[in-house]
Formats: sequence, structure tokens, C-alpha cells
Amino acid sequence: MKVMVIHGPNLNLLGTREQTVYGPATLDEVNAAIAAEADALGIEIEAHQSAREGEIIELLHSGIDRAAGVLLNPGAYSHTSRAIADAITAVPFPVVEVHLSNIHAREPWRARSVTAAAAAGIVAGFGPGSYLAGLHALKRLVEA
Ligand code: DQA
Repeated sequence: MKVMVIHGPNLNLLGTREQTVYGPATLDEVNAAIAAEADALGIEIEAHQSAREGEIIELLHSGIDRAAGVLLNPGAYSHTSRAIADAITAVPFPVVEVHLSNIHAREPWRARSVTAAAAAGIVAGFGPGSYLAGLHALKRLVEA
């Protein structure tokens, strides 16, 4: 089973970006933790990061006929992008939205995710653990 992990804008700066909110782990370290968990679950991971809305949409499309599911952290596009929400609805596989931070415990504008409404579910607030929990949820969904 192949799962694509798509990290959105500014997540390349993890490790230096707002450490009190996002923690000390770099994106490479987060990807390594996801890969280790995936290994234990018998899942193959393909990880991407993009700051561009259109590229995130194209990455979602690229999973058609290839990926069993996607773990997506759309970053701030979560709060604005109807185009990414439409892409999530358009693809045939489940998309689990993940956030490192608890978007409901921050600025009020972060509490609304327009992309989450299209996702199978959302995990937020557990740091890199959000991706790991999301991976388990995705596996259960795909195998159900
Ligand atoms: C984030 C939360 C978003 O509000 C923010 O814009 C991000 C990161 C998270 O993982 O907690 O870039 O998606």
C-alpha cells in the first residue's frame, strides 16, 4: 500500500519556524518518523512538500491509480483554499488532513479549515504524532 504525504507551505522551515508552536523537529525528522511508522505498518511512503497551491492540487491528482490514500497538511491553505478542497473531493482515495498544532486553540481564523470539510477526517495538535495517528487512521479506512 502506498501513501503519499503532502506538506504544504512553510513546513519546509520546521525546526526553526515558531518552535513554541510547531516544536523542534525538522521536516526531514518528521518524514523519518512517518517512514518508520509506515515501515512497521507495511506502508510505502512518498513524501512531498510544496508552497504552491496548484502544485499541491497536481500532487493530489498524481495519486490517482497510484496511492491508496494521502496524508495532507495544507498549512495555511487549509483556511483559504476551495481549490484544494475540490481536489480532495475529486480524487478517489481518502485524504486525512493533519496539523501539527491544535488549530482550534489558536487565532480564531485558524479554527476554520475549508479543506477539512472535504477530508475523510482530521488529526490536529499532536505535533509529528498527528501524522502518525493519521497514518493509522488512513490504513484502517483503506482496509475497511
Ligand atoms: C498548520 C496550521 C496552519 O494554521 C498553519 O498555517 C501552518 C501549519 C499545522 O500543521 O499546525 O502552516 O497546518
